[in-house]
Amino acid sequence: MLLLRHCQGVTRVGLLKTQRLLNSVATPSVTGCVGSLCARWGSSHGGQESGSYKRSHVPNWRHALAGLLAGTGAVLAYGLHSQAERAATTMVQPIDPPTSMPIFTQDDVTKHRSIEEGVWVTYKGSVYDITEFVSMHPGGDKILLAAGGALEPFWALYAVHSQEHVLEILSEYKVGELSAEDRRKQQTVKSSDPYSTDPVRHPALHVNSLKPFNAEPPAEILSDNYITPSAIFFKRNHLPVPQVDPKAYQLHVEGLPGAEPLVLSLEELKTRFPKHTVTATLQCAGNRRSEMNKVKPVKGLNWGIAAISNATWSGAKLKDVLLAAGYRPELAQQACHVQFEGLDRDATGTTYGASIPLHKAVSDEGDVLLAYEMNGEDLPADHGYPVRVVVPGTVGARNVKWLGKIIVSEEESSSHWQQNDYKGFSPATDWDTVDFKSAPAIQELPIQSAITQPAEGATLDRRAEEVTVKGYAWSGGGREVVRVDVSLDGGQTWKVAQLQGGEKPQPGRAWAWKLWELTAPLPPATQELEIVCKAVDNSYNMQPDTVAPIWNLRGVLSNAWHRVKVTIREDEEE
Ligand code: MTE
Repeated sequence: MLLLRHCQGVTRVGLLKTQRLLNSVATPSVTGCVGSLCARWGSSHGGQESGSYKRSHVPNWRHALAGLLAGTGAVLAYGLHSQAERAATTMVQPIDPPTSMPIFTQDDVTKHRSIEEGVWVTYKGSVYDITEFVSMHPGGDKILLAAGGALEPFWALYAVHSQEHVLEILSEYKVGELSAEDRRKQQTVKSSDPYSTDPVRHPALHVNSLKPFNAEPPAEILSDNYITPSAIFFKRNHLPVPQVDPKAYQLHVEGLPGAEPLVLSLEELKTRFPKHTVTATLQCAGNRRSEMNKVKPVKGLNWGIAAISNATWSGAKLKDVLLAAGYRPELAQQACHVQFEGLDRDATGTTYGASIPLHKAVSDEGDVLLAYEMNGEDLPADHGYPVRVVVPGTVGARNVKWLGKIIVSEEESSSHWQQNDYKGFSPATDWDTVDFKSAPAIQELPIQSAITQPAEGATLDRRAEEVTVKGYAWSGGGREVVRVDVSLDGGQTWKVAQLQGGEKPQPGRAWAWKLWELTAPLPPATQELEIVCKAVDNSYNMQPDTVAPIWNLRGVLSNAWHRVKVTIREDEEE
């Protein structure tokens, strides 16, 4: 109960119901979850990265309650991973109606659309009174969208809800059955899948979640190309991919004192401003989260080492567009941030959003683009067609896709993804103690490197006599990677890898990764190697050697030395 103190919106009724839910779905991890969930939602709306659970994970209370919530990325955050992948394609069996329960008509249900009148919903022919659940939850406003109607179309947006344990909790709120006539009517209404218009993706991608689509390329092919082909560039979507008509597209620029809001068509963006091309690496804050998960479970998609890719981006400079909209340097005294809103929306109509510091946006050396091309072609749908922001050196989350609006402001974006997610915390911080306001939003990322070849668990042939190790290295904020060290003995001895590719960047503008390679003799008298890499940037920032000291509850900023264990197969005896 102590943990519930975090939840401003928790009512007494909510507490009672919570206890009931705890009793019904309790697992060893029950304690702390309610508080943490509320803390995560806080006063702003939900949103976020996705849930990470091991394949064998038994759904816990936190997961289940999150599943009951009707939407936003925050819900998705805690459910996705392999489980969600299955959930996206597997429909759960309807709950069998007991005959003794009252029968309601659709009209009866429709009358219950508010906390005052009660919040009723239907699911597969049964009627549920979820008033208490909504009152107890700060994010309950989302589920109100489904009030008085069927949950099915609503949950279609959040595929994670189609799971057995979510229905188990829902059954606690059951009050009756829908009349036979209204059940028949409902069955004739097809529920539409908001992801049905998502683009076709490359089959080589390793899918982390299908709806929304999140995937990374196989690590072995990641370092085969300095420029990652768009088809296998990692994809990180929080919501369905919006369908944008390029002819009707409008980019709104607001918030500049004394200036009218500027509205640009795609054509105007392309023709009124000089086109610039920048090669920049994007990395998700959750890249390599799976290594943190091995230390202690974290919340988020279980990314491997390939939630990072490198592309050339072309478009107008954000600075040029802001100047055309009325930006003047004196404004820097008042406004400190530039906010971006995407055109992708959750069930409440809330768009994806993020912001960057104004000085990054307007600096000549910042190279922030409103990109309409990726690798020399129109942006692919998954990467933000027709326009996205590319903020070189900055965490992927701020590179807003399907850009609809730019707002110059005194404040950071109020979006969940700026305020309550993509922040780093101490290993000591858990879901019961986390205060999202206490940490800054991630912008520049720390130094990173990883081994792409050989793969973990690979077998090397002794007859080859040597091993070639390949990988990538990158640092945020335009800091250049100046060295990568590789060890074949777990970090006892080191060799310097050869850095490859790419033009020499201008100082402070090293936006692209460096691929690297090292070929070394296979050490004699050992059948097992622990290959390790670590990179150094031009500020002499280095990676930490182990994961545990940088572990954090969201599994972001995972940049410890990367380790790969391989075995050596000895020659067959003649
Ligand atoms: N922009 C919008 N509109 N919606 C999103 O879901 N995801 C963000 C960012 N921009 C996102 C977005 C995150 S978390 C990342 S890591 C990058 O896009 C991923 O970009 P990519 O899919 O082109 O690799």
